[in-house]
Amino acid sequence: MIILAIETSCDDTAVAIVEDGRRVLSSIIQSQTDLHIPFGGVVPEAAARDHLLRVNQTLELALSEAGLSIDNIDAFAATLGPGLIGSLLVGANTAKTLSFITGKPFIGINHLHAHVASNYLESELKPPFLCLLVSGGHTQLIKVSNYDQMTLLGETLDDAVGEAYDKVARLMGLPYPGGPHLDTLAQTGNPKAYKLPRARTEQPFDFSFSGLKTAMLRLLEAEAKQETTVEHSRAANLAASFQHTVIETLAEKTLKCLTTEFTGQSTKTLAIAGGVSANKGLRQYFSNYEQNHPDFRLYIPKMGYCTDNAAMVASAAYFNPLTNDLQMEVFSRSVSFSKAS
Ligand code: KG4
Ligand code: ZN
Repeated sequence: MIILAIETSCDDTAVAIVEDGRRVLSSIIQSQTDLHIPFGGVVPEAAARDHLLRVNQTLELALSEAGLSIDNIDAFAATLGPGLIGSLLVGANTAKTLSFITGKPFIGINHLHAHVASNYLESELKPPFLCLLVSGGHTQLIKVSNYDQMTLLGETLDDAVGEAYDKVARLMGLPYPGGPHLDTLAQTGNPKAYKLPRARTEQPFDFSFSGLKTAMLRLLEAEAKQETTVEHSRAANLAASFQHTVIETLAEKTLKCLTTEFTGQSTKTLAIAGGVSANKGLRQYFSNYEQNHPDFRLYIPKMGYCTDNAAMVASAAYFNPLTNDLQMEVFSRSVSFSKAS
């Protein structure tokens, strides 16, 4: 089953072709970062217009890289939400048009289901597993009991992790998008230089990052009073301390959730997904943990499948086509996992 998928939920125009949900035949991502840099964030109207300019060319590139023509495609998929509505419409209407003219099915996909499915790409991962989804818009712990059976066990009550990274990076004067820059800066700093707060939440598997963000703001304000520019090594220490606090918070809750929810499983499997799964510190932390715990299995997507891409959308379309029923509804919904009682 060869699926061509389009992802245009935010600021990446992406088209991919994937066979049987796992084998990536091509994956093209055209980033709009340069367009949004002067504004320090994504401008929705500009993003939608840019998708419109790039989508046909991206489609042609994906077909030629896979060595296929439109007639070889068995189904067309696109992200329907959550995301920027003008941007989503470009990908969704392109995929629907292709489906209409070829007579092949159209499969609408929820962006969060797609991030979960990014771990099926070029891997052997099968449910059951716990997914830690950390992106610019979401921070969630999802129990994946089967390909089409996912339960939300916890989520952020305020900022998503990627959002906290981007906001703190901006306060530190780092370029947009801040997450990867903050991650790089953190590699050279001392993670224990500053003691930062960790939020307690009423529900054990929920998260909160706004207090940490405010603590960083206060520290930066205090630093700015002492001197005109924050010295590089101090900035690196701040970045490293922030990163250390985020990773320890994520790890503590995730590992507790894994032991609580998968008691019957001799091997406990964790899959990390979303843009922040590209974070070097987070990847390092969990791979060290895996090396020291024989009953723990870790899956993290390859770098190209962590941040937004269309291969994960094609995989979700293969493994979780039930979302087709939700295709229109999903436009107005941010969460489409059943909530744990
Ligand atoms: O999944 P994604 O591409 O888009 C959403 O669905 O939100 O995630 C983008 C987020 C941004 O906040 C970006 O700063 C963050 O992922 N990100 C990172 C890293 N790479 C991307 N955050 C921390 N460290 C990174 N290396
Ligand atoms: Zn995403």
